[in-house]
Amino acid sequence: DDVTPEPELKLGFESIPGARLNAVAVAAGYSAQVLAPWGTPLNSQANSWKDDGSNTSQDQLNAVGMHHDGMHFFPLNGSDTEGLLCINHEYIDQSALHPAGATEVAGKRPAEEVRKEINAHGVSVVHIRRVDGVWDVVTDSSYNRRITSATEMDVTGPVAGSGLLVTKYTTGRGVENIARGTNNNCGNGYTPWGTYLTCEENWPFIFVNSGTQDAGQVRMGIPASGTRYSWETAEDGLYDEFTQFNVTPSGTDATQDFRNEANGHGYVVEIDPYNPASRAVKRTALGRFRHEDVTFGKLETGKPVVFYTGHDGRFEYIYKYVSTKLWNPADASRIDRLSVGSEYMDDGILFVARFNEEGKGEWIPLLESTVTTSGQTLGEVVGSQAEIILNCPWAGDAVGATPMDRPEWTAVDPDTGLVYVTLTNNTSRTEVNAANPRTNNKFGHIIRWQEGAAATEFAWDFFVFGSPASGDSATNLSGLTERNEFASPDGLIFDSRGILWVQTDNGADEVTENTNDQMLAVIPSRLGSADSGEPVVDGGNQDQLRRFFVGPNGCEVTGLAFTGDNKNFFVNIQHPSNWPYSRNAAEETPVGVSVRPRASTVVIMKDDGGEIGV
Ligand code: FEO
Ligand code: CA
Ligand code: CA
Ligand code: CA
Repeated sequence: DDVTPEPELKLGFESIPGARLNAVAVAAGYSAQVLAPWGTPLNSQANSWKDDGSNTSQDQLNAVGMHHDGMHFFPLNGSDTEGLLCINHEYIDQSALHPAGATEVAGKRPAEEVRKEINAHGVSVVHIRRVDGVWDVVTDSSYNRRITSATEMDVTGPVAGSGLLVTKYTTGRGVENIARGTNNNCGNGYTPWGTYLTCEENWPFIFVNSGTQDAGQVRMGIPASGTRYSWETAEDGLYDEFTQFNVTPSGTDATQDFRNEANGHGYVVEIDPYNPASRAVKRTALGRFRHEDVTFGKLETGKPVVFYTGHDGRFEYIYKYVSTKLWNPADASRIDRLSVGSEYMDDGILFVARFNEEGKGEWIPLLESTVTTSGQTLGEVVGSQAEIILNCPWAGDAVGATPMDRPEWTAVDPDTGLVYVTLTNNTSRTEVNAANPRTNNKFGHIIRWQEGAAATEFAWDFFVFGSPASGDSATNLSGLTERNEFASPDGLIFDSRGILWVQTDNGADEVTENTNDQMLAVIPSRLGSADSGEPVVDGGNQDQLRRFFVGPNGCEVTGLAFTGDNKNFFVNIQHPSNWPYSRNAAEETPVGVSVRPRASTVVIMKDDGGEIGV
């Protein structure tokens, strides 16, 4: 037989020291370019970015949004040098967005400022191309588009048709299953059929219900007074352009107010980047909560398509969606991608995780017939299937799901199918459980599981615990050193070769005094398993966990995408404090110089043109 053995996969760079610079730091032999920073024009309707904050809301609607987060690269014609980069824009920094920060007049926000803020959120689809080793945006490409917190989109799945999306706006439009805008787009996913998935995370805080809230709204955390940006105070345009954010009922008629507006938020949203005329679709079957990200499980022909998605909140839950339709690989090449999405993502069962002792876990279906811990059914406690979906956290409480230390990203090993999740931190934890064993969990941890033979069983273990290198043996449970200490793991992505990349969003002083946020690499398939209760990773072994990249001061490192040849990595830098200074991401902002900070994608390439990381 003429079988060439696969070369052994191993990390081919030296772990770098911690850094605290107004510049990125990357392993020796690599370079880093700034690509598509906030405000980069996507078409000629946008004026070029101005460093005084004076760009208009129309400029912003036609330019890259703010505070880049999750991201995915979709090649054009299979190219490794040209494609569509979909970028989430999680939130905004009003002081950088406007000339003099947020303003208000007599308690009202100016409409133009609010429109600019709304347009700086959402998703950018950006046509990018590498020419002579430099990546740039293809301005005026017909693929370029912005989806914002005002873009109308479709809603499918159990909540569609329930009557629970009816508002003055939907009534005025004469359609029901629509929502206005996507907001707080944090982590992402993508599908086997070539679409982008964007996740709505901290959306509750743009709404206010100052009236009587039902149990579901209270549990979800819709504020009773005040909102994050006070958008609801701005002067109204057509269809109550801004009062939509005030979801307080004004009477008894849902067609005359916006009490149901927030029911259109809190979902995984599917976008077909290859079809700029297509509308985004909110897939409610995957649940409604503060989604961090979403990842599909290992694909098997003739088996359901599975998606994992965590709720980033203290003591919140991890979910799994299992499609009714069984995977047919021919669907990967259909061009009616959103129809494929409907087939796999609108009809299935949503489960919530319970982590039991001894590494065993179970998935509990969120169905009307599921018996809760009180002995009643979920239907009796929460209501119809649409209401259960609308109120996943409440339903999770009722069935005894395990409260976790802020589930952020999930990732699936392309070889083994093992599922990993970052539990970023939880300083409010006073009572431990099997999977969250530290009180005052400042540094976070990563666990993983293997699905069992039945769809309702899994087996889990600890992968690694965050800690400062200086932590004592009760804190530094993975033996991390100064070359791989980290805290608050957040972004988590496998590349196609099986390297797991871990990104951080850390606020713990014990680590930030040594290094800014970072990206580390580990190859789990080379590590085997650990003794019961012990983490898999041995931080003292530099072959196992290596630091590849460190971001500039003030930032979080989040979002990672690859070209198919693994020779170009795209990493997002969110909320830097005084960066970027130039197109060279590693060029330090000179001492004494203040730049208007811009979240940005950073492209990493190996100087010898080879594959990254190996
Ligand atoms: Fe937007 Fe939970 O990070
Ligand atoms: Ca995150
Ligand atoms: Ca985070
Ligand atoms: Ca963030």
